[in-house]
Amino acid sequence: MVMNFKIFENEDTVANYVANILRKQMNDNPTSTIGLATGKTMVPIYKQLVDEIKEHPVDMSQLKFINVDEYVDLDPSNKESFAYFMKEKLYSQVNVLEHQSFIPTGSGEEAVKQFNEKLEEFGTPVLQLLGIGQNGHIGFNEPGTSFDEGVHVVNLSEETKSQNKDQFADGNVPTKAITMGIKDIMKSREIILVATGQHKANIIRELYDAKVTEKFPASILKEHRMVTVVLDKEAASELPQDIQSYYYSQYS
Ligand code: GLP
Repeated sequence: MVMNFKIFENEDTVANYVANILRKQMNDNPTSTIGLATGKTMVPIYKQLVDEIKEHPVDMSQLKFINVDEYVDLDPSNKESFAYFMKEKLYSQVNVLEHQSFIPTGSGEEAVKQFNEKLEEFGTPVLQLLGIGQNGHIGFNEPGTSFDEGVHVVNLSEETKSQNKDQFADGNVPTKAITMGIKDIMKSREIILVATGQHKANIIRELYDAKVTEKFPASILKEHRMVTVVLDKEAASELPQDIQSYYYSQYS
């Protein structure tokens, strides 16, 4: 299946585009569930979304939000947790109440059970936002994860820990995380994968070339019926020149 790319000038124009889609989904489907992600890529997107919602208010009282992943054993009050990230960058700023959002927490069977129950209760996301790791992971589904895997606890790869090191004051990245499985992610009605910056150019080229294989988790997205890969020019810079020109001229 051909992936649909959208290429924008820079991370701000990417943020405008993605924030607009999120706001539109919230507005058009006011009782739906939206799947969100964390990471540096999402920072300008949530900032833009907060600004847009302030400018064009949306009734958010019936919406639900669920995140793809979290480190194991990081308390939500810990500034380095994804829970803290979401609260600080989005939920506290647009008045999303505690019961409307879920970010997995804990470890072991109990945490997996709780995440599955929440997915069931909130229902399949109409839209799932994703970033991509430099080794091709989505959520924290590391290379080699079965496509049939549901919610699970994962031992993070050395590559992932080193990629996320700068988000921890002491440079110590937790060794484990809990994540939605590929199977869960693929259920979402629509998926938007975002990558920005030169450091993502290689993996985006690999994604473009890849056959669908468990060695490259993001490659499964080629089998999803509604997926868009949103890039800035830097992240798109290793794509074949004609593809870059085509998508840039089409959508920017
Ligand atoms: C992290 C997270 C993902 C995130 C991705 C990209 O490790 N598990 O949920 O989307 O890697 O992160 P960043 O945007 O910081 O590059």
